[in-house]
Amino acid sequence: MVYDRRPDDMVRITTPELAEAFIEEQIEAVREQVGDGKVLLALSGGVDSSVCAALLIKAIGDKLTCVHVNHGLLRKGEPEQVVQVFRDELGANLIYVDAVDRFLDKLAGVSDPETKRKIIGGEFIEVFAEEARKLEDVKFLGQGTIWPDILESEAGIKAHHNAGGLPDDLQFELVEPVKILFKDEVRQVGLALGLPDKMVFRQPFPGPGLGVRCVGAITRDRLEAVREADAIVREEIGKMEPAPWQYFVAIPDVVSTGIKDGKRYMGWAAVVRAINTVDAVTAEAVEIPWAMLTRIRDRIIAEVPGVNRVLWDISDKPVATIEWE
Ligand code: XMP
Repeated sequence: MVYDRRPDDMVRITTPELAEAFIEEQIEAVREQVGDGKVLLALSGGVDSSVCAALLIKAIGDKLTCVHVNHGLLRKGEPEQVVQVFRDELGANLIYVDAVDRFLDKLAGVSDPETKRKIIGGEFIEVFAEEARKLEDVKFLGQGTIWPDILESEAGIKAHHNAGGLPDDLQFELVEPVKILFKDEVRQVGLALGLPDKMVFRQPFPGPGLGVRCVGAITRDRLEAVREADAIVREEIGKMEPAPWQYFVAIPDVVSTGIKDGKRYMGWAAVVRAINTVDAVTAEAVEIPWAMLTRIRDRIIAEVPGVNRVLWDISDKPVATIEWE
């Protein structure tokens, strides 16, 4: 059955058995909806689009085409993981688009955060639309919409990021198999579909990606520094038990004096941030053990070119936001 809304009496999916039952039900529903039709899906590698894609692969196999756009603002290893899990392991029909230069060229010299976001969002739609136009007979668009997206857009909190952004010549019927699920249920379903923990339990990550953490006008060298420092921080702080809700690095567009090999060395400051929150509306800075902080400092300074200081952001939200954008 294709649900339009979450039934009031729906049992929360908390076990592998309930997840399996949901998957079986949705496989039937998807097959019924699309028949012999083809489905296209933008696969970012985030939890929702990944679970949606894995479910659709199980339901309709190669009648699904996934498009993964690498805009250069993903975390270290993410594009490779999408290709490995979906193309190599799940056998998906996956189009990988290397659009790194396109995005970074358009973003060059742009420091205003809202303008950066608009460029990233607009370029994403353009790249996706170009790929969609190359395909024939696609009638459906798969989307990893989840129940909170619908509730939030109904409440006017956030515009639901649906197909509304696509150009007029691209009109699709939506296929949204995880639309009635809460986030924890999406994760249960993802595990039951065999997706790796690393993908299913990913931290929240902004749509504009590292673009919001490479504060100011993005340059390729500072973006690489953000990506490398972020990978170190994810590895190290990920060892905390329990791990904080979100932890990452931002590098603002500021240099300060340092010393390297006895000479003046102008470098960036990598800002380490770890927070706990329930709903991201308010957040508390998490206390990171000193030994972990100093290890992070030593690794970033040794492994990330261009960085000569490591700072720890102990600000709560409010008044600071979680991201530095
Ligand atoms: P702020 O910085 O507003 O962030 O305190 C709150 C939470 O939202 C995440 N965030 C986003 N998530 N698309 C998303 O899906 C976005 O464009 C976006 N921007 C910020 C942020 O990482 C934090 O968890």
